[in-house]
Formats: sequence, C-alpha cells, structure tokens
Amino acid sequence: MSDITRAVATLRAGGLVAFPTETVYGLGADAANPEALARLYAVKRRPVDHPVIVHLGRAADLDAWAETVPTAARVLADACWPGALTLVLERTERVPDAATGGLDTVGLRVPDHPLALDLLRAFGGGLAAPSANRFGRVSPTTAAAVRNELGTDVEQVLDGGPCAIGVESTIVDCTQEEPRILREGGIPREQVEALLGREVGVGGTTRAPGTLAAHYSPRARVVLVAREDVRVSAEQALGAGQDVGVLGLRSDTADSPDSCVTLATPATTADYARALYAALRRADEVGLDVVFAVPPPVSGLGAAVVDRLKRAAASH
Ligand code: TXA
Ligand code: MG
Repeated sequence: MSDITRAVATLRAGGLVAFPTETVYGLGADAANPEALARLYAVKRRPVDHPVIVHLGRAADLDAWAETVPTAARVLADACWPGALTLVLERTERVPDAATGGLDTVGLRVPDHPLALDLLRAFGGGLAAPSANRFGRVSPTTAAAVRNELGTDVEQVLDGGPCAIGVESTIVDCTQEEPRILREGGIPREQVEALLGREVGVGGTTRAPGTLAAHYSPRARVVLVAREDVRVSAEQALGAGQDVGVLGLRSDTADSPDSCVTLATPATTADYARALYAALRRADEVGLDVVFAVPPPVSGLGAAVVDRLKRAAASH
C-alpha cells in the first residue's frame, strides 16, 4: 500500500496524519469529522475555541466550504493558490463547529506542496491542519521535528523534506468590507496589497493563537538585539555562565564570540525564514539558556520572521 493510500485510510477512520506543506508541517484530521477534530485538539493541547485552517486540494473546492466569496477573496485565491495564503470567509454548513471554535467563519487554504496536494486530492474532503506542534511551541519544518514533538500521538508522518518557506501562511480576513491581515506569513503584505490595489491593515482578532503575544516558544529565552549589540550581550551572558546562541543574518552575527552557538547563518531574509524554526528547536536540543536574535529587515517575508521572533521573545 502506498503512503498516500494508507494516510487516506487513517484519515477516513478518524486518525491523524502529519504532512508537509510549503510553510510548515501540518497535523491533519478529517475536517468534517467532529471526533477526529476532538482528537486533533487533544493531541495539540489546543484550547477548543481556537479555530483551525481547513486545507483543500483545489481552489474550486472553495465554494463548498465558504458561504460567500467576496471579490477580494476570489482575486487572492486565483493569484496565490496553491500557496501560503489562508482566507477567512463565512462558512457553509459543511464546516462543523469543532473546526471553528464556534465562529461563523472558516480559514481555508490550498497548500503548495506535491505531497500535500496528492493527499488532499486522494482524500477528497477538507483536512483540518494546524501546525504539527503542541500548542504555543515552535512549528515543525521537517518530518523528524514532527516525530520528536508528537511521537506516537500521530499515526503517520508523511516526509516531504524541509519546508521551502518555513513560516506559516498569511491569513487574510475577507469577511468585512476591508480585508485585513490577521497573521503575517509566507505571502508578504506588499503582494496582498498589490493584488487588491489598496493598503491592507494588519492584526486584530482575539481568537487566533498564532497571534497571541507569546507563541512559537522554545524553552531557551529569546532576546531580540540590534546587530551592534550582539557581541556585548553574548559576552555578558557567557560571563554569567550561560549557554548562549545567536541567530540572525550572516552579516549581522559575524562578530559574535567564539563560544556561542551560531544557530543558523542565513544569507537572505528568505533563508532566515526557512531556518528560523529549526534554529529555535536546535537551541533546545543543545540546551541553550538564551538566544540573542537579530531581526531581519521588516519588509517582505521579513515581517513574518520579525513577528515570530517577537512572540518567541514575549514568552519569557
Ligand atoms: O501555514 C499554515 O497556515 C500552517 C500549515 C500547516 O498550513 N497551518 C497553521 O495552522 O499555521 P495553525 O492552526 O497553527 O494556525 C492557524 C491560524 C490560527 O492563528 C487560527 O486562529 C487562525 O489560523 N484561524 C483559523 N480559522 C480562523 C478563523 N475562522 N478566524 C480567524 N482566525 C482563524
Ligand atoms: Mg501553529
């Protein structure tokens, strides 16, 4: 039996299958099966009033899950799917309460990864898939990270290699007159604005865990520093007997002390996004006390990286 055939059987039986997407690995469950969703929330240890994203195999499936699709949403779906964009829309009756925390809306996305698309198309329905980490922790970007995080709580993990983007999808709420970005992510705000031909605000929902002040947290303390302060901050912590890591663009961390662990050496902001979560996981694997992180420039994909770093830093 192929991996996909086995995964489809597991999902139809109400089980959980982790799968790769271009952003991060998702923990998939049948979005139309409330019992499967209950198990998903239990394994994630996620509060039941926090909605999940429903993943679809084709943009054409949108109308089965969304009651109304405003022009802005149609424009974004046509231009970005498959891709790192989640649309929040009014839900149809097909969407169970258990997927939306009781909200009238649903988050929908067609991911851009061949294995995810094979799985979704073979399964036929929608897959609820939050990032495959326990609630509040660092999202996984490799199959090994999923197994380390969830162990035997997940029936199957499809391995599609490391995720190409490395941070989650951009979430755009299209239920109001003015579309709003609820979470910055893999599709930059500038691209959303260019497609819609107007400025788009960022932030503003109470029920998005990825938007809680503290999230994406390793056990190590994360401290944001400017590039010119990396060396002094690291030396002070080392002097206090701490195990210290540094994270930032290669050009921003070149002069950190030798006894620090350099967690990644990204050359570009896109490299930084790709390396971010693996670097934060590595900080815990090697038992660091503190990570000094230099944020990248805030434009493009940098906005999502800075957002995740701030939330990781807010947890301590
Ligand atoms: O890139 C991604 O989006 C990944 C991959 C696996 O697709 N998934 C992901 O799921 O990040 P999760 O559950 O970790 O984050 C989903 C976010 C949460 O912040 C959730 O509150 C928000 O989407 N969300 C889902 N449905 C929503 C809705 N109806 N209204 C507002 N926010 C919603
Ligand atoms: Mg998440």
